[in-house]
Order: sequence, then structure tokens, then C-alpha cells
Amino acid sequence: MPLVIAMDGPSGSGKSSASKGVARALGLRYLDTGAMYRAMTWWMLRAGVRVEDAGAVAARALEPVIVSGTDPDGPTIAVDGEDVSGPIRTREVTNAVSAVSAVPAVRTRLVDLQREIIGAGGIVVEGRDIGTVVAPDAAVKVFLTASEEARAERRAKELAADPGASVRTTQAEQARRDRIDSTRKASPLTKAADAHEIDSTELGLDEVIEAVVRLAKERE
Ligand code: DC
Repeated sequence: MPLVIAMDGPSGSGKSSASKGVARALGLRYLDTGAMYRAMTWWMLRAGVRVEDAGAVAARALEPVIVSGTDPDGPTIAVDGEDVSGPIRTREVTNAVSAVSAVPAVRTRLVDLQREIIGAGGIVVEGRDIGTVVAPDAAVKVFLTASEEARAERRAKELAADPGASVRTTQAEQARRDRIDSTRKASPLTKAADAHEIDSTELGLDEVIEAVVRLAKERE
């Protein structure tokens, strides 16, 4: 059975860098499911849908055609044929994505797509509900955490070019997003009972990658 590695955890826990690194180390594909929720959100905003209106979001959830590339060295995301890798990282999308991803019709649509991409396996998948909902049979499940301060600092560094994104605002926006992501009714962020928790607060990226690779090798 080809390997599926589920990497879940809150925003800023270092999931993306670690997941890509693990995929490279093991020669696996890589899927960023957060980018898919961001792509859906970007499309809703551009279509003029009020994202706080769950009914309006649900009514249009089947419209955008979202395509994800799975090369860890160059992951891609396109909506209706347009490359949206840049636009999905803006603060506007980041602050709207939790509302859109709480809508069950959005989740059903994207989980179907994600399962199609995962297919027979050979992939590292990062998100919030991979070990619990998308791939409950994944051979390796990791729940990556880090202190709230460490997570906000990492995010603020990523947004260094944005003058509005101080560590304090980022921390407040992130806390709000994590609260919505963890308390929503549909597939909230929770650690799967059989997931290995890794706290990356004091760990370097290489150490996190090594720990996950070790877990994967133990499964072989
Ligand atoms: O990982 P990220 O910050 O790019 O994710 C963006 C948002 O998408 C996050 O706030 C919650 C949502 N998300 C989700 O609900 N389920 C997933 N599997 C991945 C992301």
C-alpha cells in the first residue's frame, strides 16, 4: 500500500516547509489542502460573494475549477485555469478563509477533490482534517504544534513585505482564525487519536523532517 502521510496542525506550526521536506526526502508527492480552501475563498471574493453568508457560499461551491499540482519543489494551484499561487496568500484571503472553509458544501467538494488526488497514495498531505476525515487510513499521522508566539513570528516573517502585518496583528488574526478552525461544526481542527504530536517550538526544520521520516520508515 503506497504511503500516505497526514500532516495536520494549526496555522504557522511549520506544516508546509516540513511537509515539502518530507516529500522530497522520501520521493513522494505533496498536497497543500489549505491552498485549495484559499483558492475557493479567492474565487468567492472575486465573484462578489459575501463570505459571511454561508448559504451564498454553499450555493456557489461547485463552480470554481480548482487544480493542484503535487510537485514538492514547485507546488501549483490554479482556479479556472488561472495561476493563483500569489493572490491566495494576501491578507484579504487569509482573513476570509476560515468563514469559507467552515461551510459544509465547500468541505464536501474539496475533500472529494483531495481524495481523488491522493488516489493510491505516495503523498504527503497537509491540512487540518487529513488524519481525521480526508485520509483516516493514512499510515503516518502527524499533528504539528508550536507555541502561539512562535507561530505568529513565523507568519509575520512570511508577511514581512506587508507593512500592516506586525507580529501583534498577525497574532490576533491568527488566534481568531485558529479559534474558528477549531470550533466549527464541520471537521474542526483536532488531533486524530492515532496521530503523533510533534511540538516544533524548539526544533529546527531539519529536526522536524527527520522525526517524520523516522516515523515513516518505522512503518515500512
Ligand atoms: O494551511 P493554511 O493556513 O493555508 O489554511 C488556510 C485555511 O484553510 C485555514 O484557516 C483553515 C482551512 N483549512 C481547512 O479548513 N482544512 C484543511 N484541510 C486545510 C485548511
